[in-house]
Amino acid sequence: MKFFIDTADIAEIRDLAQSGMVDGVTTNPTLIAKSGRNIMEVIAEICDIVDGPVSAETPATDYETMLKEGLKLAAIAKNVAVKVPLTPDGLKTCVALRKEGIMVNVTLCFSAAQALLAAKAGASFISPFVGRLDDININGLDLIDDICTIYSQYDYIETEVLVASVRQPEHVTAAARMGADVATLPPKILRQLYNHPLTEKGLEMFLADWKSTGQSIL
Ligand code: G3P
Repeated sequence: MKFFIDTADIAEIRDLAQSGMVDGVTTNPTLIAKSGRNIMEVIAEICDIVDGPVSAETPATDYETMLKEGLKLAAIAKNVAVKVPLTPDGLKTCVALRKEGIMVNVTLCFSAAQALLAAKAGASFISPFVGRLDDININGLDLIDDICTIYSQYDYIETEVLVASVRQPEHVTAAARMGADVATLPPKILRQLYNHPLTEKGLEMFLADWKSTGQSIL
């Protein structure tokens, strides 16, 4: 499973990129607003730090403007993936950008029917939002299972399932069991994946016992 980091915070991206765990970055208008940065500048900076796909979302909602914005965003760097919402104009923009060989991440997906449309539009990634479905008492992981099952019926579908709106480590491991290609993780969640109390306890015991040997390797 590939891990993308879901943030536009440069310091966080720099720190986590050194872990070797980061395969890409996703942003959206909310994360850009949170960063307080100019989108063109911060996306360029992120693309310098991370070689993998960096998602930058078009804020427009009409096809003509989304296409112009998407082309401008894609011109920032070769690893930009233009993010478009799952709307008729968004998917029309996806088709046009894919014809230019530009990566497209179709976002705000909440149903398998929508995911089918995104695959037909040739999306590079589909972003189903697990946490926001959980928020309204619908099991978001069921959608991931549905999409992975449907996509696996057709060899020609190359759209990668990019699990978004991840709120807890279980979202990651459950989606991995279902065969999702990517999970985009808030920095906090990626850090939580490392943690287990028995690892901590076991390491403490190893270090104490090693100390008692009085040995050193270096
Ligand atoms: O990439 C989509 C993600 O940022 C949305 O997460 O927690 O706002 O639903 P959330």
